[in-house]
Amino acid sequence: MVDYIGTARLQELVQRKGCGRFIEELAAEIEADYRRWDDFEKSARHASHSSGGVIELMPTSDGRLYSFKYVNGHPQNTARNLLTVTAFGVLADVATGYPLLLSEMTFVTALRTAAVSALAACRMARPDSRVMALIGNGAQSEFQAIAFHRMAGVRHLRLFDTDPLATAKLVRNLATLRLPDLKVTRCASAAEAVRGADIVTTVTADKRNATILDAGMIEPGMHLNAVGGDCPGKTELHADILRMKDIRIVVEFEPQARIEGEIQQLEVQGLREAQVLREEQRPREASSRVIELADVLRGRLPGRVNEREVTLFDSVGFALNDFSSLRYLQRLNAEQPGGEQIDLIPDLEDPKDLFAGLGLGQVPVRRRRFA
Ligand SMILES: NC(=O)c1ccc[n+]([C@@H]2O[C@H](COP(=O)([O-])OP(=O)(O)OC[C@H]3O[C@@H](n4cnc5c(N)ncnc54)[C@H](O)[C@@H]3O)[C@@H](O)[C@H]2O)c1
Repeated sequence: MVDYIGTARLQELVQRKGCGRFIEELAAEIEADYRRWDDFEKSARHASHSSGGVIELMPTSDGRLYSFKYVNGHPQNTARNLLTVTAFGVLADVATGYPLLLSEMTFVTALRTAAVSALAACRMARPDSRVMALIGNGAQSEFQAIAFHRMAGVRHLRLFDTDPLATAKLVRNLATLRLPDLKVTRCASAAEAVRGADIVTTVTADKRNATILDAGMIEPGMHLNAVGGDCPGKTELHADILRMKDIRIVVEFEPQARIEGEIQQLEVQGLREAQVLREEQRPREASSRVIELADVLRGRLPGRVNEREVTLFDSVGFALNDFSSLRYLQRLNAEQPGGEQIDLIPDLEDPKDLFAGLGLGQVPVRRRRFA
């Protein structure tokens, strides 16, 4: 039997824990795994692109446990009343290859993405950051708001979405949380939301090289949390931001970020420019412009060196984030009463007699009942 967490069970687990605490515990779990980065098998995810979106498989293993997540990204789905991002995942035992847990990961993806964003911001944003612009107010946005309020000291959100109904929904949902120390302001444009913000989170969905932020909008000392650009040809920042002199760019897993992150724009716009970034990165010095989150979380490289530096967390979502989430869920599920199992794998008396497991030799149950 395999442990099973469906959407109803996931709701139950998050409700019992509280969303903010759930995200914070998840962030601690993810950080612990990033600190043992070298233990993991790492690869860029396998992506199957189509005109409307992408379907991706994201595997990793630490030699003891293996996980993968199935996830899609279809920005036009909401027009059909469907989610842009859905997901499920599996945690398995490397010693036997048997799956241990099958879990919903649509909610979990939003929770873990927010956890990783806030974790990065705790190391990269100025410690006195209180104001965050949140651009893109769709499915992921509440989770980002809660994580930054809980973990990164954000006390004022400045919201913008091209769809005013999405912003209204976010305002409504945040109101139900009754956070007396969180001020929320609706803005008429991305530029207005960004003005004066300490942190800027972009979490929009559009299958193109969009310009949600341009270099003129960026103020010294800002931390940018770019979440929505996560596929080839799907970005949110103008390339000039990436070329700014004083910018520190942190990615989850560099080979994947070069394909899918904001930094893909430097790759495609000229071999020489990409080469400069690679050369800078090779010695892994404090001056490197593109560095990996694991090096920041392990204390090998700083997330920020001064008050005026612009920092960018170029998030695309890495398999390790999901591995940690599945392991956290497995533990939480076992601790809380009401967990379920499903018969995903045959349970046989003789493992060499798979055929008998189909029960073809027995009288079918239906016939017996009506004979
Ligand atoms: N980095 C990661 O780990 C990670 C994880 C999950 C989702 N994502 C990405 O985050 C994005 C958002 O996901 P979601 O589930 O919230 O999608 P969603 O479709 O529910 O919400 C996206 C919102 O962006 C808004 N938007 C689109 N273009 C805009 C623009 N130019 N300015 C302002 N708002 C704009 C839309 O109106 C919509 O409300 C997607 O692109 C998704 O692929 C990344």
